[in-house]
Amino acid sequence: MEPRLDLPIRPRRNRRNASIRDIIAEASLGAQHLVMPLFVMEGSQKRQAVKSMPGIFRTSLDPALRQVEQLQKLGVRGIALFPYIEPRLRDSRASEALNRQGLSPRVIKAIKRRFPDMVIFSDVALDPFSSDGHDGIVRQGQIVNDESVAVLAQMAVLQAEAGADYVAPSDMMDGRVAAIRQALDEAGFTSTGIMSYAAKYASSFYGPFRDALDSSPKAGDKKTYQMDPRNQREALREAALDEAEGADMLMVKPALAYLDVIAAVRQHTTLPVAAYNVSGEYSMLKAAAKAGFLDHDQAMAESLLAIRRAGAGIIFTYFAQEMAELLKKI
Ligand code: PBG
Repeated sequence: MEPRLDLPIRPRRNRRNASIRDIIAEASLGAQHLVMPLFVMEGSQKRQAVKSMPGIFRTSLDPALRQVEQLQKLGVRGIALFPYIEPRLRDSRASEALNRQGLSPRVIKAIKRRFPDMVIFSDVALDPFSSDGHDGIVRQGQIVNDESVAVLAQMAVLQAEAGADYVAPSDMMDGRVAAIRQALDEAGFTSTGIMSYAAKYASSFYGPFRDALDSSPKAGDKKTYQMDPRNQREALREAALDEAEGADMLMVKPALAYLDVIAAVRQHTTLPVAAYNVSGEYSMLKAAAKAGFLDHDQAMAESLLAIRRAGAGIIFTYFAQEMAELLKKI
C-alpha cells in the first residue's frame, strides 16, 4: 500500500507541467522591460573592455551605434548613456558638463538621428566631469547642494536640446527634480521626461562602474547624499518628494539587495518604477558563472525576474542585450 495523506489542498497541482506553470506565472520578463546602459568615449572605432565587467566595453560613437542597432533588433527599447570624460577635461566645477559640443550632447544627437525610436535616458550628475569624483560640487570638503542643483539643471537642458527622451538625475541632491523640471519647461522642453534616481543608496556595488568611468571620489565617500543601506522608510520620503517635484518615473538603485525597497516604492506611487541592476550585481554573477559555481543564463533570468516580481516595471541592466538574446532563443 502506498501511503496517502488526507490532503485536499496540494499546491504542487499548479506546478505539474511547464504549460500550467506558464499559465499561472505571476511575473514576466520581456525585452521591452530592459534598458541597456552604454559607456561612451571620444575617438573613432574605439572599444575598450571594462576589466571588472566581463562583456562590457566603453566605446566611441561608431561601435555604440552598431550596438544600438542590435539592441533595437532584439526589442530593447531604451538605453542609458554614461560618458567617459578625458581626465584633462575634468575640473572642480565640472565645467565640461555644460559644454554644448561635449561628448554627451553629441552622442545623444547622433543616436537620436539614426534611431529615433530608441528611448534615450541621459545621466545627470557631475561625477564623470568632476576632478573630485563627486556627483555635486565640492567646497571645503562639503558637497554643496544648491550650487550643484543649478549646474545639474543647466546640464539637463543641454541633454534635452540634444534629444534625450528622459533626463535621469542620479546625483541625489535635494530639490534637483523641481529645478530640472522648471529649467526644462522654461527652455521649452515640456515633453522631455525626468527619470529620477529617487532612492539611490551609498552602495559598494557601484565599484565596477567607477572603474568603467574612472569616477571614484578622490576624497571621502558619497554618504552625505546617497542613502544609508539601513533605511527603507527614507526611500518612501525621497520617492514622494521626487513625485511631488514632477518626476515622471522613479528609480530604486541598486536592485537585488534592495528588493524590499522596490516593493515598498511600488506600493506608494502610481508612477512607473524602475530598478537599476548595478555594475557590482552584474560582475558578481559573471565571476561566479566563470568559476563554474552557477549557471549563467539561469541565474541572469532568475535575478531579472525577481526584480520584476518585486515591482519594477523597468530594469536598467548590463544584461539587457544578453537577456534579450536569450529571450529570442526560448
Ligand atoms: C553616479 C552614478 C553611479 C552609477 C550610476 N550613476 C555610481 C556612483 O554613484 O558612484 C552606478 C551604476 C552602476 O554601478 O552600475 N552618478
